[in-house]
Amino acid sequence: MNLKKMVGYKAAEFIEDGMTVGLGTGSTAFYMVEALGRRVEEEGLKVTGVTTSHRTTKQASELGIPLKDIDEVDSIDLTIDGADEISEDFQGIKGGGAAHLFEKMVADLSDEVIWIVDESKMVKRLGAFPLPVEVVKFGHGQVKNLFERKGLNPQIRLDQNGQKVETDSGNYVIDLKLEIIEKPHELAAFLDSVTGVVEHGLFLDCVSKVIVGKTGGPEVIEVMR
Ligand code: A5P
Repeated sequence: MNLKKMVGYKAAEFIEDGMTVGLGTGSTAFYMVEALGRRVEEEGLKVTGVTTSHRTTKQASELGIPLKDIDEVDSIDLTIDGADEISEDFQGIKGGGAAHLFEKMVADLSDEVIWIVDESKMVKRLGAFPLPVEVVKFGHGQVKNLFERKGLNPQIRLDQNGQKVETDSGNYVIDLKLEIIEKPHELAAFLDSVTGVVEHGLFLDCVSKVIVGKTGGPEVIEVMR
């Protein structure tokens, strides 16, 4: 079985009747949303979804999952999302799909966060996956220059036509090719301090459960903090 499908379907089992659920973005979260749509249709499961991208909104609404805007809910019971890398101490990089701003806002509002990944995303230390940083268009070249001066190896993300990728909020993405992130909290604090940075893809101390897709079956890991 496709490992992304395996964990997406497994994660949908954790959704309970009456929950407000954060719906992640990406090719793994896609399967969780698909399975949730089936549960809503076949079991009459009552949930409210809060989506993390226009893509997920489209998929979920086509499947008949009732949705609310993030500003219409007080809190979120559970968010299920993919990740690009998870380190052995369960810190994460997200934003490969440029959705990390909405994903982080939804995660921050959630009582519980589950990440679903195939085993290739589990790494010892973060950094091989380029770290996405969403920046406002105005002066994004200056922000890139600053990152260059700091040795962060920045690259503005382009699409297949060579155009700058725009996020759902109409911003650009700068990917930092770092190889190894020695001190994720320090890097996060620096990025948070840069004017023009909207949000970065370091998701620290936020996940409560990780479901890893392995050929033998899904492994559910409880994260102790
Ligand atoms: C979207 O911006 C990302 O944070 C995704 O959640 C992440 O890139 C995982 O995507 P895949 O499940 O497609 O690998």
